[in-house]
Amino acid sequence: MNWSYGYYTELNYTHGYYRQMAPALLRMACLCGGIEAQLRDQPVYLELGFGQGLSVNIHAAANGGQFWGTDFNPGQAAYARELAEASGVDLHLFDDSFEEFAARTDLPDFDIIALHGIWSWVSEANRKTILDLIRRKLRVSGLVYVSYNCLPGWAPAIPVRQLMTLYGDYGGGQMAGPEGTIEGAIKFSADVLKNGSVYFRENPSAAHQLERLSKQSANYIGHEYLGADWHLVHVSDMARSLEEAKLSFVGPARLLDRIDGMHLTEDGRKFLGGIGHPLLRETVRDYLVNQRFRCDVFVKGAIPLAGAKQREAWRAQPFVLTVCHEDIPKTIAGALGEVELPEKIYDPVIDVLSEHCYRPKRIDELMASPKLAGMKVNIVIEVLMVLTGAGFVSPAQTPSEKTIESCHALNRHICGQALTSTDLSYLASPITGGGIFIPHICQLFILAMDRGRTSAAELATFVWDFLDGVGERLLREGTRVESREENIKEFSRLANRFLTRTRPMLQALKVV
Ligand SMILES: C[S@@+](CC[C@H](N)C(=O)[O-])C[C@H]1O[C@@H](n2cnc3c(N)ncnc32)[C@H](O)[C@@H]1O
Repeated sequence: MNWSYGYYTELNYTHGYYRQMAPALLRMACLCGGIEAQLRDQPVYLELGFGQGLSVNIHAAANGGQFWGTDFNPGQAAYARELAEASGVDLHLFDDSFEEFAARTDLPDFDIIALHGIWSWVSEANRKTILDLIRRKLRVSGLVYVSYNCLPGWAPAIPVRQLMTLYGDYGGGQMAGPEGTIEGAIKFSADVLKNGSVYFRENPSAAHQLERLSKQSANYIGHEYLGADWHLVHVSDMARSLEEAKLSFVGPARLLDRIDGMHLTEDGRKFLGGIGHPLLRETVRDYLVNQRFRCDVFVKGAIPLAGAKQREAWRAQPFVLTVCHEDIPKTIAGALGEVELPEKIYDPVIDVLSEHCYRPKRIDELMASPKLAGMKVNIVIEVLMVLTGAGFVSPAQTPSEKTIESCHALNRHICGQALTSTDLSYLASPITGGGIFIPHICQLFILAMDRGRTSAAELATFVWDFLDGVGERLLREGTRVESREENIKEFSRLANRFLTRTRPMLQALKVV
């Protein structure tokens, strides 16, 4: 066995950012789950298996505290360290395996231990190591964030993965290279389907799964389907495992997973309402929505937060828009289809949040606006919970000069990278303590402004010169638009929109 313990290392992992891992959103998960979040303002945070390290770097730049992380892939650890160097934050990033990391003698006690995309994909021995580390090194009141593939949603795909892994082991041959092996594994599985497989006929969702695979990236497929380990659990099993480390279940970190009205039928809601035990309820809920992936928060020593105390905690929390109010859609995706965000209650809250140049606002300030006249506080709380869960709003904090500087330094580096790759799509905000989605073209506009361009025409020319230099063009409905004039016209329109809509919000978020 080499250093990878059977973990898939042929292709590096994608450059993802996961906002629900930000300290502020973990606090929100506790608040929504009726648990007191006793996190210190300057938490000691550990991310296990940080991948390319974008999340840990953004969180370290945008928050006070101490940030630690390990990922045994040296290429990824090197990339993550490069980001850390750019922000100037003193991160403690290692290329240790979990086993090596757990054996270190210089570890502090942690307030937060977060692992995204790890639990289901590592060996039982590694899961034991992680549990033991949590047991020894998480402070009382500390939080654990863990995401994992779950049942029942993945159940029909288990045999698909088996075919893919077996092909990788016995059918592909090393000559094909990682991409070739993945392509071959998909084709091989599709051939099984085509040759009269009764399994696929009787399990149409497995056939859909296979169909979807051809549209997913090789990096994702390699990590999901070709590793040695794939551990699927129900939420109740996950909670039992973490009980061994003295942790209690708080609830989902993705706040939309709490909004039953968005995902369940009326009968489903009534049925669930009749189940008393939180873990039985949460497990049954996964059957109602056919859950495949969960992101959960656990706490070491739960102190319930309810009634007036919970409302007070909501009132104390400022919120800020993270998407321009004109760009917020009128519907969002629920388990049963698109769900409308009723204009009558959502628009006034969004409007008031955008007032005074997007300055963060507490619930009392929102409710003092005539636009919210007659709206009850629990409705405003639910609207904020949905908007936060959907990623349109975030809890806000008062940043130090140091976090503002670190975010700006990291953001400058990321925008500079936009000249050579489109891998990174988030910039750090010291106001939210997390990442803000910034499309590639907006990163180029920010870079252009850093280099002294100011007008929409100048930004458009900057983008055109860059694209022309690398032989690229604007794509319209998948087709290259060749003429300079057409390109500049479209980039000017986008630059104008960036300057008038997006930039004021990014300034309020102190991203720029
Ligand atoms: C699916 S990726 C998730 C990466 C990152 N958390 C994200 O979501 O973008 C899993 C990561 O865990 C790392 N990893 C797997 N097993 C490990 C181990 N035993 N010790 C340290 N890192 C490990 C891999 O290198 C990989 O980067």
